[in-house]
Parts: sequence; structure tokens; C-alpha cells
Amino acid sequence: MLKIVVLASGSGTNLQAMIDSIEKGEIWNTEIAMVISNNEKAYALDRARNCGIPAVCISPKDYPSREEFYKKLLFTIEEVSPELIVLAGFLVFIPEIMIKKYKNRIINIHPSLIPSFCGTGFYGLKVHEEALKRGVKVTGATVHFVDEGTDTGPIIMQKAVEVRQDDTANILQRRVMEEAEWKILPKVIDLYAKGKIKVKDKRAWIE
Ligand code: GAR
Repeated sequence: MLKIVVLASGSGTNLQAMIDSIEKGEIWNTEIAMVISNNEKAYALDRARNCGIPAVCISPKDYPSREEFYKKLLFTIEEVSPELIVLAGFLVFIPEIMIKKYKNRIINIHPSLIPSFCGTGFYGLKVHEEALKRGVKVTGATVHFVDEGTDTGPIIMQKAVEVRQDDTANILQRRVMEEAEWKILPKVIDLYAKGKIKVKDKRAWIE
């Protein structure tokens, strides 16, 4: 059984999509062993607890230094020994030591078609505001492996979403979630659980 740890900072709708897909049997042989948030108020923690999934908050505010925070985060993850770590709206920079330890075993969902509207400072609603400002007609979501850069790791799956003339950032964010994020994240985890995702250098593909 694929054991995963989910890291989330916010409302956790992507976490919910994973929980629902596991329940419906759309993700094969997978267990969410723990949910970790840096934000004690994150609704993602409630979603986990409501389903009986162990959920903990590890906040940088509770540690004297960034190093101590990362140490606790890594230690907590290591205790679970997951095969896969899923960043589902996790707004904390992942340290190099963790990326090396879990090479090609950390995936992230990003709410745009990478390489558009990604990198430092592009997260959450901001991504959609920038897409609207630029006037793109198509946006979407990307699931990728996490490497040392920000949103630079091998792309696993993308799904395009139409931008409409009367969209606001909130409306577009919701459509990207519904039409892309909540579909491709569970799909990628299912494929990962089945051993179908291969990765070499900068490229990932599905066998
Ligand atoms: C999602 O839209 C996710 O793609 C985004 O944060 C949101 C979290 O929502 N992630 C990023 O912007 C990462 N750069 P959720 O808590 O409801 O899943």
C-alpha cells in the first residue's frame, strides 16, 4: 500500500479530493498516513481529523530558528516513513535536505500551466490575478515533482482550463480547482501507486 503524507497550509480542498478519491476507489491501494500543516487554523487539519487521519501542526513560530522548524518537520515525516509526500497548497519552502532525501518522491500541485505564472511569489489567488492581468485565454493546473527550485521540477501532468471574459480571480481559481486540480492530483497519485510514473533528469512520463 502506498503510504503518503500530505502537507497543506490552507483550506485543503485538494486534500479532500484525495480523501474522496481514495474512498471511491479511484486511487489505488493508497493510505494518507498523516496531514501536516504549518498553520494551526488550516481547515485541512479539520478535514483530516474528520476522517480519522492523524493531523499535526508544525509552525515555524513555535521554533527558535528555521533549522529547528525544518528538523521537526523532517523528523515527523521520517517517523511515518511515507513513500510519497504530497504538497497540496503548502506555502513553506522545502529545504534541500528534504528534497535530497525524498528525491522524486515529493509532488506539488500548482494552479497554472507551468512555466506560466509560477516561481517565487506565485501562489494561491495571486496566480489567477496575474493570469487575468496578462489576459491569457487558457490557464490550468500542473502536478510536478519538487526539486531544489520553485516550481521547476519535472512536470507529470497538466490540464488546461478556459478563461472567460467576466472571470474574477476567485471565479477562475474555483474553476481551475474543479476542472483541473481536483482531477489531476488524485489521478497522478493513482498512477504513482501503480508504479506508472517514470522520471529521468528533467522529464517525467507515464508508462
Ligand atoms: C491550490 O489552488 C493549489 O494549487 C495552490 O494553493 C491552493 C490550495 O488550495 N498551490 C499553490 O499556489 C502552490 N504554489 P486547497 O488548500 O484548497 O487545496
